[in-house]
Amino acid sequence: MAILVTGARGNIGSRLTARLDAAGHPVRGSARDSTTLRLPGGAEPVELDLTDPGVAGADALRGVDAVFLYPVIGSVDAFLEMAAKVGVRYLVLLSSPAAYEVGEFDQPIGLVHRAVERAVAESGIAHTVLYPSWLATNARRDWADQIRTTGRVAMAFGDASFTPIHPDDIAEVAADLLTRGTHRSRMQILTGPRSLRLRDTVAVIGDVLGVEIPVDDLTREQALEREDGGIPRPILETLLDVAEASVGLTAPVNNTVERITGHPARPFRSWAEAHRRHFQPR
Ligand SMILES: NC(=O)c1ccc[n+]([C@@H]2O[C@H](COP(=O)([O-])OP(=O)(O)OC[C@H]3O[C@@H](n4cnc5c(N)ncnc54)[C@H](OP(=O)(O)O)[C@@H]3O)[C@@H](O)[C@H]2O)c1
Repeated sequence: MAILVTGARGNIGSRLTARLDAAGHPVRGSARDSTTLRLPGGAEPVELDLTDPGVAGADALRGVDAVFLYPVIGSVDAFLEMAAKVGVRYLVLLSSPAAYEVGEFDQPIGLVHRAVERAVAESGIAHTVLYPSWLATNARRDWADQIRTTGRVAMAFGDASFTPIHPDDIAEVAADLLTRGTHRSRMQILTGPRSLRLRDTVAVIGDVLGVEIPVDDLTREQALEREDGGIPRPILETLLDVAEASVGLTAPVNNTVERITGHPARPFRSWAEAHRRHFQPR
C-alpha cells in the first residue's frame, strides 16, 4: 500500500516525501501542477487540487492507505470522502497552534486550520493532528529579502519569543506516524529545542553568515505601513498580535520530537547553516 503526501513541493511535504522514499516506502507526492514537480527516487508525482479533487483525486488515492494532508484554504470534504471510500486508514494533518491559541483561533489563520481539522474529524478516518511551533522557514519568508538587499532587518516586537522548529523534525515525526503505530495519538504538539527572541534568531543567521545583522525596531503601525500587500492585512494584524503577546515571555519547549524520533529537536542554527545561501547578497 502507498502513502500519499499532499503538497510534495512544500517545505515539509518535500522532506517527508524524500524521507519515506529513502526508507523504501511506496510514495506518491502531489502538487496542483505536477508537470514541474521533481520528486526523489521512486516517488510518483500526481496532480491534485485538494479543494477540487475530481478524477485526479481518485487516481492519486488509488492503492493508498495513509495520507499526509496540508491545511489548505477551502473545502477538502470531497477529497476526504474519496479517501474514506478507497480505504485510507490513517491520516496525518498538518495544523497550527493558531487553531487553539487565544487571539488566533477565531481569526483567519485559526479559522482555516479549524475548518480542515473539523473536516478530518468528520471523515471518520483515524488521524493525528500536528501542531508545530514557529517554523524555521519563517526566517526566510520574513527576512531573507531584507538581509540580502540591506544587510539589516526591520521588525516590530523583536523581543517576542518563539521556538523555531526545523522542517526536517516535522517531516521525521510525520514519517514515523505514517509508517508505525507507536505515537498515533489524537494530536502531537511539536516544538524546537529552545525559546529564542526574534532578534536572537536574526543574530543566529548573522553568526552563520559571519556578519552582524542590525535589527531596526518598528512600531506596530510602522510594520503595518511597510507591508506591501504580500500578507493580507487581517493576517498581518493577527501575526503582530501574537508577537506582541509573546514579548518578554519564554516560548514553550517540549520533548515530543525527541520522544518520537529518538534525537533532540534540531537547533535553528542547523536550519540557518543549511539555508545560508538564501540570505547572502546575490
Ligand atoms: N508559519 C508557521 O510558523 C507555522 C506554524 C505552525 C503551522 N504552520 C502550518 O504550516 C504551513 C506551511 O508549511 P510549509 O512551509 O511546508 O508549506 P509550503 O512550503 O508553503 O507548502 C504548502 C503546500 O500546500 C500545497 N497546497 C496549497 N493549496 C493546495 C490545494 N488547494 N491543493 C493541494 N495542495 C495545495 C502546495 O502545493 P502546490 O505545489 O500545489 O502549490 C504546497 O506544496 C502553514 O500554511 C501552516 O498551515 C505554520
